[in-house]
Amino acid sequence: MAIKYVPEPFRIKVVEPLKMLTRQEREQAIAQAKYNMFGLRGEDCYIDLLTDSGTNAMSEDQWAGIMKGDEAYAGASSYYKLVDAAKDIFGYGYVQPVHQGRAAEKVLFPTFLSEGKIAISNMFFDTTRAHVILAGARPIDCVIPEAKDPSHRCKFKGNMDVEKLEQIILEKGAENVGLVVMTITNNSAGGQPVSLQNMRDVSAICKKYNIPLDIDAARYAENAYFVKRDEEECKDWPIKKIIKEMFSLADMFTMSAKKDTIVNMGGMIGVKDGESPLILKIKANCISFEGFYTYGGLNGRDLEALAIGLYEGIDENYLRYRIGQMEYLASRLDDAGIAYQAPVGGHGVFVDAAAMFPQIPYYEFPGQVLAIELYKEAGIRTCDIGSYMLGNDPDTNEQLHADFEFTRLAIPRRVYTQAHIDIMADALIAIKERAHEIKHGYRITWEPPILRHFQASLEPIED
Ligand code: F0G
Repeated sequence: MAIKYVPEPFRIKVVEPLKMLTRQEREQAIAQAKYNMFGLRGEDCYIDLLTDSGTNAMSEDQWAGIMKGDEAYAGASSYYKLVDAAKDIFGYGYVQPVHQGRAAEKVLFPTFLSEGKIAISNMFFDTTRAHVILAGARPIDCVIPEAKDPSHRCKFKGNMDVEKLEQIILEKGAENVGLVVMTITNNSAGGQPVSLQNMRDVSAICKKYNIPLDIDAARYAENAYFVKRDEEECKDWPIKKIIKEMFSLADMFTMSAKKDTIVNMGGMIGVKDGESPLILKIKANCISFEGFYTYGGLNGRDLEALAIGLYEGIDENYLRYRIGQMEYLASRLDDAGIAYQAPVGGHGVFVDAAAMFPQIPYYEFPGQVLAIELYKEAGIRTCDIGSYMLGNDPDTNEQLHADFEFTRLAIPRRVYTQAHIDIMADALIAIKERAHEIKHGYRITWEPPILRHFQASLEPIED
């Protein structure tokens, strides 16, 4: 029996009509998109779960804030409002707005990484991995082994493997490790949380070897909710206290604000030590790549919405509903025997496409197969988080074999209702019933050298 749906702590004031294509039209659309989900038109997707990034519904307060945005080039009041809010929540000395998460990575990473260096993370997100490589360094993932078994249910499946982390540092030499990155929640492992204890352990190792520690903070609020729910020590702590404690353990953060701060565009860099010489480098890179350091590539109105969203995103009632949506969808899949990265994480359900299509090898991209089937079945757009996304080895150019073959149903914040969630579950159930009839996956007919999944062309493999 599916669990009870947690009711929305808001009501709807503005609506966005949806287009409904026929199955035949959807088959045409996906073929025209060269079987790349990013090639589809947004309006041709009935339910768009490509990402939870920038697809959030803003509140009436945020829209009111948009009107109040101060567009001064330097020193806008909206900038100060954002800095005050971020300092209040994270307790950091310096806050730099940027236009999105990858801009934060582009500005910050080259100050720590260069040829010959490595960066270690519980798991790098794809753009984060790309920015490590673009800086000349090499990324190493170091998540706990439990994360690699989707059916293994345990708490804090996004944690860093602390023993392995220390082993890698000793093997490679601490002087060659430019950065350790804790991704909270661990997106690539299925939005799985990282515990406060794990953060403390990683922080202690970084201090021991004098390696800077960065939090990839895209989903820090969802992570804090899990810490409160599942970590005994924190069960009576306010969400804000958990966040402050987590962030006090790192030296800096890079953040895509398009997720947990419930806006459509934005990002931030934070530096704990407000006097750090690093800040001058950040400002210089920001001025070259993003814009003057008090707007960082954003409009004044974006800064204003972001400052408001920072508080809305850490509201506990909101977070209970948000995580409740995931738990509801996951419980419907449990009922149907559909495997996913379990227990369900914070921003979506990562269906185990390798389990659904055991007949399809990783180099025919089972995660992409399920994404295409979901689109054909119900106009639901999702994406592969597996070998198709991982791409080729930057040194040998060979297709990498990902640890997982997931199809990610990333749920935008405050956007879809229980009825939409039921459509997602029903579509997956219908596909599972005919999964054995699908004999082959897809081959890539064209791909760019980096971040290929956004642009590659594919074709179905025929008998
Ligand atoms: N870090 C993590 C953990 C992310 O999930 C993302 C983006 C980024 C960094 C980069 O941020 O998009 O603002 O430049 N994730 C999105 C996703 C795109 O769909 O998961 P960005």
